[in-house]
Amino acid sequence: MSKPTETAFRRMEKAARTAAEGSYSPYSKFPVGAAVIAGSGKIYSGCNVENASYGLCNCAERTAIFSAVAAGERSIKAVAVFTPTPLPTAPCGACRQVINEFGPDAAVVCVCSSKSRIDTRLTALLPGAFGPGDLA
Ligand code: THU
Repeated sequence: MSKPTETAFRRMEKAARTAAEGSYSPYSKFPVGAAVIAGSGKIYSGCNVENASYGLCNCAERTAIFSAVAAGERSIKAVAVFTPTPLPTAPCGACRQVINEFGPDAAVVCVCSSKSRIDTRLTALLPGAFGPGDLA
């Protein structure tokens, strides 16, 4: 699978920032936007969607990934997360596991309101992951 270009990374980051505008987060008041570069090269985005039954809240990363999969994608090359905070925040544990399903070697970019950022990979965030191969 080809490596995404710098332009694709910039577009993904912008899509994550824009996606946060759609956040439904009346309980946490913590809007999050995410975007992914899928195997086809297309970019899909999503936001966190909360619920009065708190346990049903869905993170932005999973909304973006599920949109990509629903559109027919089966792999993820990169993920971007945006939070309107002074420091970047990395994906939660549940989202790391979901990223692993489709992008075990995905690049992960976390951006925020300042210039501070995290540029890492899923392998660093979730070493020794349980994945599809373990069911074989
Ligand atoms: N959240 C995300 O959307 N992504 C993360 O990586 C961490 C947390 C959301 C879930 C919830 O709606 C709110 O942020 C506070 O936890």
